[in-house]
Amino acid sequence: MKYDVIVIGAGAAGLMCAATAGKRGRKVLLVDHANKPGKKILMSGGGRCNFTNLDITPENYLSQNPHFVKSALGRYTQWDFIALVSQYEIPWHDKGQGELFCDNKASDILEMLLAECAKAKVTLQTHCEIEAVEKISDHFQLLTACGDFTCDKLVVATGGLSIPTMGASGFGYQLAKQFKHTVLPTCASLVPFTLSGKTQDRAAILSGISVTATIENPRTGFTGELLFTHRGLSGPAVLQLSNYWNLGEAITINFLPNDTLRECIAEWKKTSGKQLIKNLLMQLLPKRFVNSWLPQALQNKTAADLNQKDTESLHNCFQQWSVIPSGTEGYRTAEVTRGGINTDEVSSKTFESKNVQGLYFVGEVLDVTGWLGGYNFQWAWASGWCAGQVV
Ligand code: FDA
Repeated sequence: MKYDVIVIGAGAAGLMCAATAGKRGRKVLLVDHANKPGKKILMSGGGRCNFTNLDITPENYLSQNPHFVKSALGRYTQWDFIALVSQYEIPWHDKGQGELFCDNKASDILEMLLAECAKAKVTLQTHCEIEAVEKISDHFQLLTACGDFTCDKLVVATGGLSIPTMGASGFGYQLAKQFKHTVLPTCASLVPFTLSGKTQDRAAILSGISVTATIENPRTGFTGELLFTHRGLSGPAVLQLSNYWNLGEAITINFLPNDTLRECIAEWKKTSGKQLIKNLLMQLLPKRFVNSWLPQALQNKTAADLNQKDTESLHNCFQQWSVIPSGTEGYRTAEVTRGGINTDEVSSKTFESKNVQGLYFVGEVLDVTGWLGGYNFQWAWASGWCAGQVV
């Protein structure tokens, strides 16, 4: 079968690209090896899909080339996607900080994209294992478990490595290497940290407790919810920092981001000197957390009892706790893959390979990683739409 365009990967970027190209009258085949399209859309945002963010800037993305995202994000914006969502009368809300979620279900977004593909007469083929891809003169030939296909333009939208059970594979990277592209080192990102030894035990005792914290490494930091887990640390602030974390690096956590503990202690000494420091801290932090986090030697001290060394010990414990995570939970739970196909070798306007005419890469398979908060989907929509305009 001959197509104008074949898109490999019926995820967020592939669906958007296929629909956009189909609307231009191109004969499009969208293939996926999974049994269903858009599986990550369905599981995203806790089942409600955080489909974009009101505040999208290039600074919300990581890439070896930080300028690469500018063109696409400027041409297909969050407002364009919101307009599409509104056209389909999908109810949504801002969860705070501009993060837009469906009121009902993530499947609203997937059904909208599938409707767009149907309108554009895109042929969708799931359960389709791709065995080989070759470029023969000016067209591509795909040998697949569902037959052989040829096309003029081939779009790779196979995403990253996170959640292999949802269809993730390294196929896009392999294909890129086959066509002499560089793939920058990849790692699990937007992912919980694991701890080991005594620090893991400390976290495990607190498993399920969440506190507002600032979590930092030497380059950046985020304030938000931090959740203790059996294996380490999770929650939005932790996931955000994981985008900027390298193995072996220490992180510092301030469990009282809105207070200065040294000043609180000075004040408590004046006003509540007879009260146990433990009880005073419980005014600011969850009881279970204080009970377990407060050093044993300070458990029975009152505010008046605290000397300078105690104050510093409390400061280090609650406002400057430093730890080296043993690692992350890995691709099994990561929301995204950091790294990927080197963006220097791809046009930021058309997403065409600079090495091979007619070959395109869109979405997460590229070395572009967004923050938590709808940024990764916006990248998928924007890059898919831009390529869909030209293929
Ligand atoms: P995506 O992974 O969506 O699609 C790739 C497709 O390629 C899949 O359908 C896969 O089956 C297919 N494929 C892979 N290998 C293939 C092969 N060999 N042959 C054929 N097909 C192949 N982002 C966000 O902005 N807001 C959110 O709320 C969330 N929530 C979220 C939750 C969870 C649990 C995860 C794992 C991820 C998120 N994300 C997110 C991230 C977001 O899902 C992700 O960045 C986009 O789906 C990336 O879109 P792509 O189309 O590039 O890849």
